[in-house]
Amino acid sequence: MPVTEILQWVDQLVFKQTGNHLNNLQKNVVQGIWEGKTYAEIAKEFGYHSENHIGNVSRELYKILSNQLGEDINKSNFCSTIERLKNSFNWPNSSQVICIGNNSSFNVCPLNQKNNSNSNKDNQINLTEKSYHDLTLAPKITHFYDRTLELQTLSRWLTTQNPRLISVLGLSGIGKTTLVKQFVDLNLSQFDVIIWKSIKLSPFLDTIITDIFTLINSELIQTDNKLTQLFNLLRQQKCLIVLDDVQDLFTSGQLAGNYKTEYKDYKTFFTMMTEIEHQSSLILIGQEQCQEMLCLDEQLYPVKCLDLKGLDNTDILKNWGLKDEQSWLALLNLYEGNPVYLKDIVSTIKSIFGGKVSDFLREDTLLLTEEMKFRLGELFDRLSPIEQQIVLELSKSNQPVSREDLRDALALSSTDFINGLQSLQKRYLVKSIEGEKVLFDLSPVFREYVRIYCQK
Ligand SMILES: Nc1ncnc2c1ncn2[C@@H]1O[C@H](COP(=O)(O)OP(=O)(O)OP(=O)(O)O)[C@@H](O)[C@H]1O
Ligand SMILES: [Mg+2]
Repeated sequence: MPVTEILQWVDQLVFKQTGNHLNNLQKNVVQGIWEGKTYAEIAKEFGYHSENHIGNVSRELYKILSNQLGEDINKSNFCSTIERLKNSFNWPNSSQVICIGNNSSFNVCPLNQKNNSNSNKDNQINLTEKSYHDLTLAPKITHFYDRTLELQTLSRWLTTQNPRLISVLGLSGIGKTTLVKQFVDLNLSQFDVIIWKSIKLSPFLDTIITDIFTLINSELIQTDNKLTQLFNLLRQQKCLIVLDDVQDLFTSGQLAGNYKTEYKDYKTFFTMMTEIEHQSSLILIGQEQCQEMLCLDEQLYPVKCLDLKGLDNTDILKNWGLKDEQSWLALLNLYEGNPVYLKDIVSTIKSIFGGKVSDFLREDTLLLTEEMKFRLGELFDRLSPIEQQIVLELSKSNQPVSREDLRDALALSSTDFINGLQSLQKRYLVKSIEGEKVLFDLSPVFREYVRIYCQK
């Protein structure tokens, strides 16, 4: 049984008793115990100083679980008891949630209290007996590191501010999909309906709406507008719709966030999501920001944006068989904490440098692997000609460049220059550094790629 399933279940049990979800330390402890580790090993693996502290946290959890499950749970019987009870436990006084898991089998999970405030209105879509989760197209998370703050931010938004549109944005491979899936896994019980779609696989909004209604076993009325029916559902039930790979809605070769003609209905949908009153949320995951994701006043508008940066600690490198731990942070920083780059470069370091990170760093090269070149090439090819010019100019310098110097070096109109620069920021390829003068800098890995492979 995968550890994510165990984490979800334990989280639901703990939430039921305490009203709080598992914190990061508790998650690490559950994961460690599930993997048969000693308290000392768990403390070492997750960087906690005291094995006693891990023991105390574990005993607290055993107490809660024993209470919830009606059996005495301790370290030695944790795995066997949890595994046995997970499949047979009956949730007293609660409705049931049908979760369609990655393996398309049906699991039974507890359903938390829901706020179905409009239960007697016309057009009622009745889900009072069951709730439905379709995560078939979401990745299964087996290892998850770091990101405590980001998970807390998402939780805080969803539990206290009821945002109707959240975007999770950042560079290719930075960990957006993984973060959101982890968040969803830990918060399944908060929603009546959860559906996960990737624009890469299911690009049409019409099909997505039909799939949502199929999932909840409700028929769309053919003569009525589909969006109207969807918003009836979003008003009556607490739904979470996750759309991944949203950048595929936008046109390649133009400035960021320009919808392809055939996907213009998404613009209307995203706007309606924020303007119409309802109790549901839409999470958009992508590499590129569009107008509808912008929020200048987070207090005033139900729109949130999480810009995902790279990982900032070396936990992810721990189980990959590397040597020279003192050099890991330098490696992490060199590859901007991007998990995809790190996975790739670690495999090179293991096969060519015998796993010795310091030997690799001594080469003093920002090595680009084939996988990195492929991803970076895709990013460069998506740029508009104006953005390509700006990027080529920025790549000539190892230092951040001021707006004035950059503009002087380019033969672009003021409008093209400013729009191009802003568009590159919406793609997370250029960041601005505020000071006496605002400076602009390229992502270092992208700069290296442009410098080597994109010069005309
Ligand atoms: N917090 C994390 N802990 C462990 N592994 C991670 C973490 N974040 C990302 N990864 C790993 O890095 C890889 C890339 O992550 P992910 O697919 O989430 O990136 P992404 O930002 O969605 O990329 P893209 O823009 O290409 O869709 C995955 O293989 C994932 O397992
Ligand atoms: Mg992704």
